[in-house]
Amino acid sequence: MFRLNQDYLKLPGSYLFSTIGKKAGAYRAAHPDRTVISLGIGDVTQPLVPAVIDALHRAVDEMGHAETFRGYAPDLGYAFLRDVIAGWDYRKRGCEIAPDEIFISDGAKGDSANIQELFSADAQIAVCDPVYPVYVDSNVMAGRTGTYDAEKGTWSRVIYMPCTEENGFCPELPEKEPDLIYLCFPNNPTGSALTKDQLQVWVDYANRIGAVIIYDAAYEAYICEENIPHSIYECEGARTCAIELRSFSKNAGFTGTRLGFVVIPKDLKSGDVMVHSLWARRHGTKYNGAPYIVQRAGEAVYTQQGQEQIRAQVAFYMENARIIRESLKKTGFTVYGGVNAPYIWMKTPDGLSSWEFFDRLLEDANVIGTPGSGFGPSGEGYFRLTAFGSRDNTIEALDRIRRFYE
Ligand code: MLT
Repeated sequence: MFRLNQDYLKLPGSYLFSTIGKKAGAYRAAHPDRTVISLGIGDVTQPLVPAVIDALHRAVDEMGHAETFRGYAPDLGYAFLRDVIAGWDYRKRGCEIAPDEIFISDGAKGDSANIQELFSADAQIAVCDPVYPVYVDSNVMAGRTGTYDAEKGTWSRVIYMPCTEENGFCPELPEKEPDLIYLCFPNNPTGSALTKDQLQVWVDYANRIGAVIIYDAAYEAYICEENIPHSIYECEGARTCAIELRSFSKNAGFTGTRLGFVVIPKDLKSGDVMVHSLWARRHGTKYNGAPYIVQRAGEAVYTQQGQEQIRAQVAFYMENARIIRESLKKTGFTVYGGVNAPYIWMKTPDGLSSWEFFDRLLEDANVIGTPGSGFGPSGEGYFRLTAFGSRDNTIEALDRIRRFYE
């Protein structure tokens, strides 16, 4: 008789964005006459840029001819893509990352969930609170998080680092020493960013206590202010303590196309063993790589033309962020984020809980957002809106919110 993985059974409820999707679906079915606008899940709405589309067309044609057809991709990904990433994302920023320290993948969500496999079953993780739920849930599935306290919404073996109004939504070093530290900056969900000095403190700390930082930089393209690092490798010493996760989803609109990468410097070691070797072993065993045509599309992002086009797209979304921020402020809400990140983190009005406000906003304004408590206990009383909508929907959603709450 088979038995299920008991750790999966510990997971409370469904994945946050699945729950929201179900609620929104039920509301739409019950009210077919209403136009519901989603500023909930951070999914992009603008089409792929012309440089990427051209590259996709060319690569598709190559696959149709015996001389240019490609089968399995190399284990780490094609060199043409790893080379341009090493040049544009790292060398240009003064970071010492070699192409063979870059592993191409089909996106940062899977990478952020899978990377924990490399570490011991009793490794203790530290996460920001609120946090992107994948980091915690994947460790629950791996049996690393202890027992769940449903009242508090916390796991007994997880170290939570509250990110609150008081600390500017930037975590403080934890009292208890973790083995793995998940950091995501610019942050999902609060939209906050760390300066280089602030990030350096984490790098120094991780090196001092022998911890690994899993640094999710999926939103680095949205950084607008000076002195905010785009990569953790801008910090001194990060090569011996940090793994970086990157995505093409938010900077180049690949949420449906799927492409990302993991950087593991060869200097990151446990004793004599490089973490790099373990991830390479995992890639070889469990993964056959992102499709050739998608890797060619990724390469096009790093052409002059591609860069100009994706920067314009990021600027488009950041204008949405500005519109959301300004409009909510005018309406009287307390608002954070949206300056170096495509997420706006607002306080719920009238002491409503995050889910109460979700229901209220859906009913009153037919607008969907993401309840802050879905990201962790410190998210209670907050609500996240994304800047990834179309311009018309963003303006319309904010008009509706203003009409109800002014
Ligand atoms: C979000 O809304 O937090 C993101 O879309 C989630 C993701 O990128 O997987």
